[in-house]
Amino acid sequence: MIGKTVYLNGKFLPQEEATVSILDRGFMLGDGVYELIPVYRRIPFRLNEHLRRLQHSLDGIRLPNPMRDSEWRQVITQVINLHESDNQSVYLQVTRGAAPRDHAFPKTVSPTVLVMSNPLNSPDPLQIENGICVVSSQDLRWGRCDLKTIGLLPNVLAKQKAVEAGCVECILFREGVLTEGAASNIFVVKDDVILAPVKDHRMLPGITYDLVIELARADNIPVVVRDIAESEARTADELWLTSSSREVQAIVELDGLPVGSGVPGPFYRRMYTLYQNFKQTLTGQS
Ligand SMILES: Cc1ncc(COP(=O)(O)O)c(C=O)c1O
Repeated sequence: MIGKTVYLNGKFLPQEEATVSILDRGFMLGDGVYELIPVYRRIPFRLNEHLRRLQHSLDGIRLPNPMRDSEWRQVITQVINLHESDNQSVYLQVTRGAAPRDHAFPKTVSPTVLVMSNPLNSPDPLQIENGICVVSSQDLRWGRCDLKTIGLLPNVLAKQKAVEAGCVECILFREGVLTEGAASNIFVVKDDVILAPVKDHRMLPGITYDLVIELARADNIPVVVRDIAESEARTADELWLTSSSREVQAIVELDGLPVGSGVPGPFYRRMYTLYQNFKQTLTGQS
């Protein structure tokens, strides 16, 4: 069966037939978590890391993992095989399930488990070459941004602000410190050192963030992980954005002002090549 088939609660169904109750706690309360996994040449990229982060998110909201890692792997592979594209973006979501509306956990409830896939939108070559522009906002999110929860309203509003300014992302500052983007992590380059925000409750531990640090260190580029002041982000030599779908991109404009020299910098170019080489060795695809 080739087409828009999704996995929902143990069944593979056409997307139109895959429905959940209006009482689902994901719909009612945003009580759930998700993951997005890029797939290159039909191979999920860094799947173990995504499954580890899923477990962290589930633990954080006290929702038992409905499947073992081997079962997740099997379902994800089946969903990938039901789609034509070689490069895909697998989305999975687990909510606490459907129960009469009440904030407290229901006594008996089965979680809702969804896995679906879409063709992967590769990063725009013009943006890779010329860089991207971002705006900024105060980070108004809750205190557990390390959990990949489906309640994304502040991220939605931040991203919309970027779109309305003709930009692609909104970067966030909390109490004068750089946290991350609405849907990405942010790096600073200053005086030939890569600065990375601390991976704590203030940001999502990005799978791409970890990989970028790993690749930089393996290539002997100095990386310092520490709080980054807003003023440092605004006077950076280079700013980068990372995410599973955008990979690594150079930010060349922040709030209408040029970042560094206003064009993608040498450290970005080096990291871009390291990232593509890594993908190539793992999946045969750049
Ligand atoms: C808030 C936020 N931070 C960071 C990221 C980047 O994470 P990853 O590299 O795992 O895609 C995302 C990805 O969607 C995100 O939503």
